[in-house]
Amino acid sequence: MQRTLIILKPDTIQRRLIGRVIQRFEDKGLIVAGMKLMRIARELAERHYAPHKSKPFYPGLIEYITSGPVVVMVLAGDRSIDIARMLMGKTFGYEAAPGTIRGDFGASRSYNLVHGSDSPESAETEIALYFSPDELLDYVPDASRWVFVPNDV
Ligand code: RTP
Ligand code: MG
Repeated sequence: MQRTLIILKPDTIQRRLIGRVIQRFEDKGLIVAGMKLMRIARELAERHYAPHKSKPFYPGLIEYITSGPVVVMVLAGDRSIDIARMLMGKTFGYEAAPGTIRGDFGASRSYNLVHGSDSPESAETEIALYFSPDELLDYVPDASRWVFVPNDV
């Protein structure tokens, strides 16, 4: 099964939306393979967002992601990277479709509630930044066979 790194950003925690956001991913059938509450240190944030270092929004992004506790998760499931990003919606809340996390809870450019890996390569890199292998559990709930169908990948 494919894995993706999801971060519930500081606004999700401050707005007490942790449960409702995780519910979106669980409802779709994605499996929680790892999860922790943490405060991202500046150095870790800079490593995570290194691909954006030259962008004008980079300093604000580092301030934002280090501004308070976050929940970091690894979600598993066939096509989990694309599924998670569909559930998240477009980057800016005011452009994201209703029914998506950002579309339902976000309204700005700067605060957009969630991060999700955007490719298999970035998922691998990002998961390794936040989790050691022994923090990730490789299990498949019984109900998952009614969600992820063998050979339809
Ligand atoms: P993410 O990486 O957090 O899942 O978001 P994304 O792929 O939808 O967007 P990306 O282009 O990777 O941008 C990373 C994060 O930077 C902030 N951002 N601010 N003010 C701006 O113009 C701007 N553009 C991007 C957002 O927090 C975005 O999630
Ligand atoms: Mg991104």
